[in-house]
Amino acid sequence: NKIKFSLSALVIVTTLFTSATAFADATLKLSHNQDKNHPVHLSMQFMADEAKRLSDGGIKIRIYPNSQLGTQRESMELMQNGALDMVKSNASEMESFEPAYGAFNVPYLFTDIDHYYRALEGEVGKEILQASKDKGFIGLTYYDAGARSFYAKKPINTPADLNGLKIRVQPSPTAVKMIELMGGAPTPLAYGELYTALQQGVVDGAENNPTALTTARHGEVANIFSLDEHTMIPDVLLISSTVWDGLSPEDQKIIQQAADASMQHHKTLWQEMTAASMKEAEETMNVQFVTVEKKPFQDAVKPIRDEAINNPAIAEYVKQIEALK
Ligand code: GCU
Repeated sequence: NKIKFSLSALVIVTTLFTSATAFADATLKLSHNQDKNHPVHLSMQFMADEAKRLSDGGIKIRIYPNSQLGTQRESMELMQNGALDMVKSNASEMESFEPAYGAFNVPYLFTDIDHYYRALEGEVGKEILQASKDKGFIGLTYYDAGARSFYAKKPINTPADLNGLKIRVQPSPTAVKMIELMGGAPTPLAYGELYTALQQGVVDGAENNPTALTTARHGEVANIFSLDEHTMIPDVLLISSTVWDGLSPEDQKIIQQAADASMQHHKTLWQEMTAASMKEAEETMNVQFVTVEKKPFQDAVKPIRDEAINNPAIAEYVKQIEALK
């Protein structure tokens, strides 16, 4: 075990050490926490292939999945310190790095997928991606990450069913607040630790989109998925400002174009793979999907929206998003 550990530590150190020189020849390192079979990984691979194609092989983006180079938080810190070039995170967790992303954390902010995409592809989405300029990174694009719902060993039909349950949330203040308002006990954990936490009963349940059931195998350890759909929080593709500023305007254009194309590619892929995940979870993991009445959940979390509207860091973004309904 010890040998295994130091070996993988060595791999990480060597990988990161070579990073500083990497962008001289435009090989960019991208870290994320999903499996290679996850739609977001596939869409980012599409982005990397596009960038390579458009630059005649000049731009190489190497993707490190499965938190190999660290959790989402660690990856963000490595990027801010110059040891990583690109990171895929989630807007929920990004709230701690750039408050603007907190706008996406407001539960029941979006009425449907079209509304969600109007925000992601519109002015407000672009403003949020640029908001972190002075913090060492900018956003390139969003990836649809569906609607998040609860899953546990029992159905969560109403907020009262969360009473006494430890629910894993993403490391984000608003996510913690949301579970508190619904009456559960929030437990922030990195995504990669969640399977074991569910299996060992460290937490009683979690909340995510249905792909977590299959791509991270959570359906094996928590098989009742209650469709309250409390949030729609996109994944975000980020790049270091130092790296970005060091690229030629031409290369910047190519990378942005590849990122935009990958978001469009992901739009359909996400729908298809979510449906396939649900089917697979039902058929091979005995997962049950339960429809629930959303109103009691919406009522419980209303204070988050009221606070957001009075929070100068996100009020304007939330209002702009609401205006797109
Ligand atoms: C989603 C999202 C990930 C995030 C995860 C989580 O799967 O795509 O970026 O890490 O939720 O709940 O932590």
